[in-house]
Amino acid sequence: MVQRIALAPQGPEFSRFVMGYWRLMEWQFSPQQLASFIESHLDLGVTTVDHADIYGGYQCEATFGEALKLAPHLRSRMEIVSKCGIATTAKPEHVIGHYITDRDHIIRSAEQSLMNLATDYLDLLLIHRPDPLMDADEVAEAFLTLHQSGKVRHFGVSNFTPAQFSLLQSRLPFTLATNQVEISPVHQPLLLDGTLDQLQQLRIRPMAWSCLGGGRLFNDPECQTLRDVLATVAQELNAETIEQVVYAWVMRLPSQPLPIIGSGKIERVRSALGAEALQMTRQQWFRIRKAALGFDVP
Ligand SMILES: NC(=O)c1ccc[n+]([C@@H]2O[C@H](COP(=O)([O-])OP(=O)(O)OC[C@H]3O[C@@H](n4cnc5c(N)ncnc54)[C@H](OP(=O)(O)O)[C@@H]3O)[C@@H](O)[C@H]2O)c1
Repeated sequence: MVQRIALAPQGPEFSRFVMGYWRLMEWQFSPQQLASFIESHLDLGVTTVDHADIYGGYQCEATFGEALKLAPHLRSRMEIVSKCGIATTAKPEHVIGHYITDRDHIIRSAEQSLMNLATDYLDLLLIHRPDPLMDADEVAEAFLTLHQSGKVRHFGVSNFTPAQFSLLQSRLPFTLATNQVEISPVHQPLLLDGTLDQLQQLRIRPMAWSCLGGGRLFNDPECQTLRDVLATVAQELNAETIEQVVYAWVMRLPSQPLPIIGSGKIERVRSALGAEALQMTRQQWFRIRKAALGFDVP
């Protein structure tokens, strides 16, 4: 069974792996098939699900909600994360993609997510991307309103720099629960720019998106050396797949990231969980780092 972990000192308890629903519309599940998929990963212990208002051209949350209506008992077995703050041109009234973190928009967006997801509370709401026009006082007001009404239990951010994180935190009476960021061998900048150090300092766990490079790791010719090293380390660790090695590489970070799984195939979800048991040595970790970056440590 998958471990459970406190996301932050006063944060919610999540499953060590999170199921990401960004690609839900590509999976082409019927509501019944989706309900079975959800139940299957809940049974495996993957109880936290990651959504955003914009996923699937604003359709993913409502599609998930349709499945939950067929199996409403599943809601109490899961923790739901959603996000707001991006406006895409999938809505005709948006002539350009932009960010929007006004107080009223955050509240309206969270309420719309609740309706779409067929639930009356979110476990965690994140500001999806840093907005140059973000007024931290307004975001704080929106968070407090949503908290007081019981509609959202915890709050966090995504893709924020440490300075943006500290700014918003300075306006809040409670601690932000996470910064959801991109972490993978093919995307390593945040490992050394202070983002993960800040979270480790505050004992807040990052949520890690696109650990497999959005699938690039399997098919990009530029990733061949990385694949070779991952396969060698997989043999050394007795791992079943190179994905397991990648997840173990991410989880080896001392900020304790929670990997978000992006596959719609339950056997891949099951396989990913094997990463928890792998004990990667420092030198194995650095071999993977080097294979991805193409150069040694200075
Ligand atoms: N906060 C943010 O800004 C942000 C941004 C992006 C994503 N996210 C979150 O992070 C989640 C995960 O992101 P992601 O989907 O990019 O994760 P990912 O795990 O890096 O990529 C998933 C993709 O890799 C493919 N894949 C997995 N195993 C494979 C294998 N063995 N061989 C070939 N292809 C394989 C999957 O296809 P199959 O379905 O066929 O397995 C899927 O298309 C999203 O669902 C979302 O919740 C957040």
